[in-house]
Amino acid sequence: MYQATLREARRRYNTEKPIFNYRWEHVEAVAQLAVNLARLTGADEEVVEAAAWLHDIRKDKKQDHPRAGAKFAREFLPTTDFPPGKIERVAIAIEDHMGLWRDEPLQNLESAVLWDADKLAKIGLTAAVHWMGMGFAAGRRRTTLDILHDGTAVDWHEKTVASMHTAPARRAAIARLVAYDQLWSALESELYGEDLLLHAVHGEHGEGHHLDVVLVETDDGVADDGQVLEPLESVAEDQSGRAGEA
Ligand SMILES: [Fe+2]
Ligand SMILES: [Fe+2]
Repeated sequence: MYQATLREARRRYNTEKPIFNYRWEHVEAVAQLAVNLARLTGADEEVVEAAAWLHDIRKDKKQDHPRAGAKFAREFLPTTDFPPGKIERVAIAIEDHMGLWRDEPLQNLESAVLWDADKLAKIGLTAAVHWMGMGFAAGRRRTTLDILHDGTAVDWHEKTVASMHTAPARRAAIARLVAYDQLWSALESELYGEDLLLHAVHGEHGEGHHLDVVLVETDDGVADDGQVLEPLESVAEDQSGRAGEA
């Protein structure tokens, strides 16, 4: 099995140690989310976890990968110590996971949990990191502006959020979408130097590093001499601990 895995890695990536294995990272994230979501919703944890690990096993089949994955689960799980009475439920959840959004919600709880976990992993900061890693691992030449453009060109996120079946996943999806939008707008602001025009900044960095700085506003929004004129106490305290940090 291990040798077969290495062969497959060489076939796909020309190396046994790919820089970034998008599919593995994705499946790992889905399995983690699916188990958490099963606990929160009362779905069968064993069914959901097995379905999560196997859901993209036949991704090489493209359009038919949920059905092909279900067939694989029906053949593979009986060769393991997985409870035989739960195998069909795993297969059904895998079969149902297709699509970035749904017109009709899924009725089966384990299918709904897998679908939500799979789609949660495709939005938010997880997705941003995964897609960047996938591009680099594939050896595609990309500039920072290319990445920014691709990241902001996605048009299906709202439909995915609206299709979430479970309340925790719906809430997480909204939070992820907000974080995702903030990521790209912050990157754009940095790249074009728009952050040089900020009047005030409030935030926290790491543990206990308060970064409250109030700048004196001028007509053009820039402090006259480029200096921070009024450091707050928290910054003064903080600076001693951060001395030497460039
Ligand atoms: Fe899939
Ligand atoms: Fe997936």
